[in-house]
Amino acid sequence: MQKPKVLVTRRWPQAVEAQMAANFDVDLNSADTPLSQDDFRDAMTRYDAILPTVTDKLPAAVFDSSPRTRILANYGVGFAHIDTEAAKVRGIAVTNTPDVLSECTADIAMTLLLMVARRAGEGERELREGRWTGWRPTHLIGTKVSGATLGIIGFGRIGQAMAQRAHFGFGMRIIVHNRSPVPPEVLARYNATQVPTIEDLLPQADFVSLHCPGGAANRHLINARRLDLMKPSAFLINTARGEVVDEHALSQSLWFGTIAGAGLDVFEREPSVPDALLNADNLVLLPHLGSATRETREAMGFRVLENLTAFFDGRSPRDRVA
Ligand code: DGY
Repeated sequence: MQKPKVLVTRRWPQAVEAQMAANFDVDLNSADTPLSQDDFRDAMTRYDAILPTVTDKLPAAVFDSSPRTRILANYGVGFAHIDTEAAKVRGIAVTNTPDVLSECTADIAMTLLLMVARRAGEGERELREGRWTGWRPTHLIGTKVSGATLGIIGFGRIGQAMAQRAHFGFGMRIIVHNRSPVPPEVLARYNATQVPTIEDLLPQADFVSLHCPGGAANRHLINARRLDLMKPSAFLINTARGEVVDEHALSQSLWFGTIAGAGLDVFEREPSVPDALLNADNLVLLPHLGSATRETREAMGFRVLENLTAFFDGRSPRDRVA
């Protein structure tokens, strides 16, 4: 039987690429160059499956009216970059890779939280630039994390992994905002309280960590009005999606000190980051590293492989989102 023809849009961990090549008729992107919209339009007519990732934009315009492609098996949990409605109309299945990156993404959120609270970025810059003049009682005074209140917006798998770290590792009090009610036994696990609105959460939190999906529905969920509801001593952490935060409003809050600081792993127009953010000292910036560990990136690839295998065996892929 002929193997399905599969396109992998970027370089993947070597172990997964090898397995993919053994199981399917695969074209790998050994140059690792991003595909254009024209490339995607063309690929829709030539491949049974396309394996995009979170930086590949697939709006309705790239969908051929009668595509050969039957599945978009996304490498990544977020899938707002794919027009799932357009896929549905053409009978194309869409899958993602949940679960396997929750722990590492929460680890990065905690890294950002600790770094910004304890001024680690500022301290490292000072030391490397030869500006450190030695220990003194008033040097680079930060904010205590242990025992503080953490507000989590979006209490899915990653939000819960964050609560696990913050509550059990740092004795933090957890408050949560989530679109749907969180089961009482899940809240009880972290001694967490769910509040009805974001407006209820922001004024109470010493740290606010975003773990909601991106996409149009959550664009600028954190805007100037909501930033104003945060305590002047509070910090904002975003490992979700760049568009969730209005970057202009955030840079104003950082510059005018209406919040104490922020930690960002994601940006609205990656890889471009506005100067107003790059120049803010009370901001820690990472280049979208949430899932970037060898273990997780391999697990994500094998999860795509599992979805793809199920699909072409005529079974329902476990991570089908459209
Ligand atoms: C995802 O999977 O959506 C992440 O942003 C990549 O780490």
